[in-house]
Amino acid sequence: MAFLSDTLARVKPSPTIMMTTKAQELKAQGRDVIGLSAGEPDFDTPDNIKAAAIAAIEAGKTKYTAPDGMPELKQAICAKFARDNGLTYKPSQVSVGTGGKQVLYNALMATLNPGDEVIVPAPYWVSYPDMVLLAGGTPVTVEAGIETGFRLTPEMLEAAITPKTKWLIFNSPSNPTGAGYSWDQLKALTDVLLRHPHVYILSDDMYEHLAYGDFKFCTPAQVEPALYDRTLTVNGVSKAYAMTGWRIGYAAGPENLIAAMRKIQSQSTSNPCTISQWASVEALNGTQDYIAPNNELFVRRRDLVVSMLNEIEGVTCPVPDGAFYVYPSIAGLIGKTSAAGTVIDSDATFATALLEEGNVAVVFGEAFGLSPYFRISYATSEAILEEACKRIQEFCKGLK
Ligand SMILES: Cc1ncc(COP(=O)(O)O)c(C=O)c1O
Repeated sequence: MAFLSDTLARVKPSPTIMMTTKAQELKAQGRDVIGLSAGEPDFDTPDNIKAAAIAAIEAGKTKYTAPDGMPELKQAICAKFARDNGLTYKPSQVSVGTGGKQVLYNALMATLNPGDEVIVPAPYWVSYPDMVLLAGGTPVTVEAGIETGFRLTPEMLEAAITPKTKWLIFNSPSNPTGAGYSWDQLKALTDVLLRHPHVYILSDDMYEHLAYGDFKFCTPAQVEPALYDRTLTVNGVSKAYAMTGWRIGYAAGPENLIAAMRKIQSQSTSNPCTISQWASVEALNGTQDYIAPNNELFVRRRDLVVSMLNEIEGVTCPVPDGAFYVYPSIAGLIGKTSAAGTVIDSDATFATALLEEGNVAVVFGEAFGLSPYFRISYATSEAILEEACKRIQEFCKGLK
């Protein structure tokens, strides 16, 4: 009898962790490596949020709460959905978990049976397909490359739906591309879903507030109210409030699904950290004034990285609508050989050679299900980004 479960054999280790580990090893050897692989803002958590957490500790608010979130936070989440998205939810339609990650996982665990399919547009956030596999479902990836602006088209969606489709996972602005769907682009997708009443939509709105320029964020249940009963809208405080380590995410949707997710959470982790919940009440109810200045910084960083990458022959970098990632194509570099003699036959060899020869850590496209690309997280200072992009330019210039 095998010691480890068969479930585990279905999932693969994270390729992003592989790159990060390699970068750390090189750093430990004293190499000056710049890491652009982390998916978190470099800003500190705002002071008003920290103060709310400290006040909660001092007031003794350190005990268990209801397993899927305390009433005060659920109320703040309902107010946020009404304020930002025009969506009306009752607290009984809200689930709070240890990060958006747990909420997504619970939703898939609560709904998937063997054979159930989940449409995952690629490039995708690395965890979606493996979470589907862990929950016993089948991920159906649909490639949406640079030609469609990394956006799923209605035709692609229609072609991917089968009688076994349970969910479409939708993520805008996206990790890893930063591509966002306009109201009309999203409406074209929700029109398709209206024709297939057995398909539910899992909208991952984690990067809602990181939206730049003319791009206006919108979410499926808002764009098509007829899908309200078939939509789970997932969000969290990690990205917009620089709270990745506090681990609070949430979702709102049909009451029966929320109750099923509560059952899973009550028998696994129980409530997310009480102190973090109080901090999140302040994040959602308190001032939102720091989001705009942070976004101004992100736009400057984005524009710097996009322009420096587009100066490289063989690299094409679209301008993202939001989040803090760029996802340039390296189609023009495949087949070339690096100064040290590595043949660049994939984005994985590109990223490995760039790290070893150019001292910059990026994540290769294969990790996100679409090649040949790589992902840079620009959530770091302009000075570091400029130096990193110079190194990438040099490395690419050396390819023959
Ligand atoms: C697209 C997307 N969804 C969900 C998450 C999960 O965020 P958290 O668990 O910190 O709320 C992330 C984090 O990187 C993400 O990029």
